[in-house]
Amino acid sequence: MSDAAGPTEINASTRYCAVLGHPIKHSASPDLQNAGLAALGLNWRYLAFDVHPDHLRAAINGAKGMKFIGLNLTVPHKRLALEMVDELDESAKMWGAVNTIRFEARDAQGQWLPLARFPDDVPDPIRARGFNTDADALVRALREDLDLQLLRGAGALLLGAGGAGRVTALKLASEGVGTLFLVNRTARKAAEVAAEIRQRFPRQEVVVGYPTNRVDLVINATSLGLKPEDPLPFDPKQFSLRLARAVYDMIYRPAETPLLKAAKAAACRTANGIGMLLHQGAKALEIWSEKTAPIVVMRRALEKSVYG
Ligand code: ATR
Repeated sequence: MSDAAGPTEINASTRYCAVLGHPIKHSASPDLQNAGLAALGLNWRYLAFDVHPDHLRAAINGAKGMKFIGLNLTVPHKRLALEMVDELDESAKMWGAVNTIRFEARDAQGQWLPLARFPDDVPDPIRARGFNTDADALVRALREDLDLQLLRGAGALLLGAGGAGRVTALKLASEGVGTLFLVNRTARKAAEVAAEIRQRFPRQEVVVGYPTNRVDLVINATSLGLKPEDPLPFDPKQFSLRLARAVYDMIYRPAETPLLKAAKAAACRTANGIGMLLHQGAKALEIWSEKTAPIVVMRRALEKSVYG
């Protein structure tokens, strides 16, 4: 292993990973992952590309052709990619979204292995295998950052029913939360997520609308809070943060959204999306490298990237 203090030189043997999104320039994933790669002494680099959804298939195939180790996908690609990979891991099937792709080739016995196992020649064909590391990362972040050891039975209000909101709702249902309240600007989408939960987790109590009693957890899975002028992601006429014990904002940049500020003022426990980003990324690195992710180094790099 090379010196863990710094990255290796880029040369003709350097291998690549990347995050694809649209937009992408605010992503902290390169800082997070390159710190992890350097600490593991891997001669790999992690890049970021702004890829329009119309070009996602071409970008995935290009990365495959260039023998990238793997990819992360972010907004708005996670559901689109379900149809664009060659194979889906159970995690991607379970949550219906792909945030991590690992490229794989066959060894002499015909077994599919990650490209990290082929340092020299990579035999054709290469396949793209899709995973989801977001759902588990959310639960880990809630446990670590909000001290919510037991989600079972916890009443929760989830704001947002887009890509992130849908996976969050399904994961909370799979953890057996108490009543799950779903709110979204476009009510139809909240109703669709509620219907999917009722079908897949029939014992889960799910309500489209705001709670009137105390809830253990409020999660923001909308994009409101990314811009300084954004309003709160809930209607203050219909819900008060005084009813919430803990508030998790999946946004990590800015580190303190108006929602988190208001939640602190209402004496709620709070956490931003750093923990979720960290854990989804650490798991992706483990999927690509088959090594234990250097989580402390990665957390430090991420905090430096976000807090300066
Ligand atoms: P992601 O994959 O990050 O969830 P998305 O699928 O585009 O991205 O979802 C964005 C979420 O933020 C949705 O819940 C969206 O509400 P709609 O379903 O009504 O579009 C929510 N959102 C975005 N802009 C919003 C706004 N100005 N007001 C309220 N909600 C907003």
